[in-house]
Amino acid sequence: MDYAKKFIVDNKPEVTFPDGLRDDTKYTFSITYTDQHSMNYDQFAETTRDIILKDGNSLAPYPDPQGYPELRELISERLSALRGLNTDPDSIYISGGAGGAIENLLDIFLEPGDTVLIEEFSYLGTLAMLLSRQANVVHIDCDDQGIIPESLEENLAKLAKEKISPKFMYLISVYQNPTGITIPLERRKQIIEIAQKYNVPILENESYADFRIDGDPLPAPMYELDDQDSVTYISAYTKFLGCGLRIGYSVIPDAIKDQLETIRFGTSPSQLATMAAYSFLKKHGYDHGLEVEKSLMQKRDAMLTALKENFPDTCEWTEPNGGMMLWMKLPEGADSWNVLKTAADRGVKYNPGGLFRANRDRNNYLRLTYSYNSPQEIHDGIKLLADIFEKEKLI
Ligand SMILES: Cc1ncc(COP(=O)(O)O)c(C=O)c1O
Repeated sequence: MDYAKKFIVDNKPEVTFPDGLRDDTKYTFSITYTDQHSMNYDQFAETTRDIILKDGNSLAPYPDPQGYPELRELISERLSALRGLNTDPDSIYISGGAGGAIENLLDIFLEPGDTVLIEEFSYLGTLAMLLSRQANVVHIDCDDQGIIPESLEENLAKLAKEKISPKFMYLISVYQNPTGITIPLERRKQIIEIAQKYNVPILENESYADFRIDGDPLPAPMYELDDQDSVTYISAYTKFLGCGLRIGYSVIPDAIKDQLETIRFGTSPSQLATMAAYSFLKKHGYDHGLEVEKSLMQKRDAMLTALKENFPDTCEWTEPNGGMMLWMKLPEGADSWNVLKTAADRGVKYNPGGLFRANRDRNNYLRLTYSYNSPQEIHDGIKLLADIFEKEKLI
């Protein structure tokens, strides 16, 4: 079979990735894997067995397009208790990870050439989806509270003059990926007001809200603060229970629900995975949250200590109160993109800053995640990384 003329070639934009990103390494500071050290697999096996024995018959038909009703009810209860977000299980739909929900939303929103607003640095998976769908991606400047309202308004006014109305704004409002920033309450209100004024829907991604470690309680979700159906809320249990489970969920305004119904809410995730997540969360959800918090605290602290011991003070990094990553700034001119392959060959991986930008610039930044390796491994891996950066003259 000759596939040469079958695939999309002509109009497909190339989304570049650095060499070494996909290599296997001992020290993996590049991926927000589930914290394996906090997961109790005996409990998970037991609750999975329980639900199969109780409700195994529900595996025979195709799943409810919006997802397992029992899990949607539980999500509604958890969102109310943990995030003060009050919603009906009927407004929730379950997807193949948060990424699956984002894909489904792009299916109903986006055509090639459409304009989309995102933060100055944004999650590389969503960015890759946007770029491969040929979106016109506009990064909005951020400070240490997230998107700067004046910059947002300036961009929207400029686009309006060109008769461009962005299809939506995508932001990660809690422990932002990659910078770790949480948008404070007042800033959230300002962003919503501007979005409403310019009629730009917001896709709010809270994938890291279950990972508070310490510091102030989280502000209310933008979904809860909005009063005009402007916000769609996206989150997931992938990083809480297992990336391999692929369980995400969204809370959707009615206007969007009608549209999602036209694509049957995308491809359903596995009903078995959904049932297993439900059964474990129902019995152990809150205790598991405490285990995750404890474990992430040790790992974050190990990374912060190792950074302090091994990196010079010409480098800066954040000290996050939650989430799974910190954001590092190297001296001006340092190129973490091109050094990644050398680092991966020596057993350590990270994400260069350019991965979070449409044009792949700003590689004197990098993201380091701490959810996967043990505290001792984190310590050793950071020491190794400092040695590599020094030899490569980045620091
Ligand atoms: C902000 C954000 N959204 C979505 C995803 C994709 O998550 P999932 O594995 O739930 O599809 C990630 C994964 O790293 C993420 O950080």
